[in-house]
Amino acid sequence: MPLIAPSLLASDFLHLADACKMVNESEADWFHLDVMDGRFVPNISYGIPVIEHIRKVARKPCDVHLMIEEPEKLTPAFKMAGADMLIVHLETCRNLHSNIQQIRSLGMKPAVAVNPHTPVELLKDILFDLHHVLIMTVNPGFGGQSFIPHSIEKVRELRKMIAKTGKEILIEVDGGITLENAASLVEAGADILVAGSSVFQAKDPARVIHLLKNS
Ligand code: DX5
Ligand code: ZN
Repeated sequence: MPLIAPSLLASDFLHLADACKMVNESEADWFHLDVMDGRFVPNISYGIPVIEHIRKVARKPCDVHLMIEEPEKLTPAFKMAGADMLIVHLETCRNLHSNIQQIRSLGMKPAVAVNPHTPVELLKDILFDLHHVLIMTVNPGFGGQSFIPHSIEKVRELRKMIAKTGKEILIEVDGGITLENAASLVEAGADILVAGSSVFQAKDPARVIHLLKNS
């Protein structure tokens, strides 16, 4: 059974407390929180003060996805805000290994995200230091985009690479995840499904979370 991490990016920001309550009471496993800086990605979402508030009411681990340049500069601030897991993009880190050490030394679980054009092979020498890998299944920056089908091959390939390490490293997929493609991603080896629009635009978000969980 996959872990489900609803992305609050697709929720109604005027009623964030309701969205948090729904996630708390649902079968979801984590909160997925997307941070965008308008530089690495062509959009700005929300930042540290909003995460601090979400963390106060979230009763599940918070998986914070940093789509920002120079994430190492703000890593301690995201720890202070309450991030349990911190995801940095391979494309933004010139010293990825030391960034991962920094995240771990602050007591968070480290993860690395790769954009659609980035081959998973580039993770070979960092893989065993990670709690999870996030495979972007759309280009980062916006919710509500269409899933890129080639991502399924990347999940399969990464699953084989992880098997060789003999360690339990989780694979997360993010972007355009729906009830239609969830099962094939799980079959390919995905452990965590992030879902924004498919959950928050549904009439019954908790039911979609339940169905994703059983995909
Ligand atoms: C995109 C974000 C995603 C986004 C997913 O840059 O990383 O987490 O919120 O939204 P959907 O599920 O709508 O594609
Ligand atoms: Zn995300």
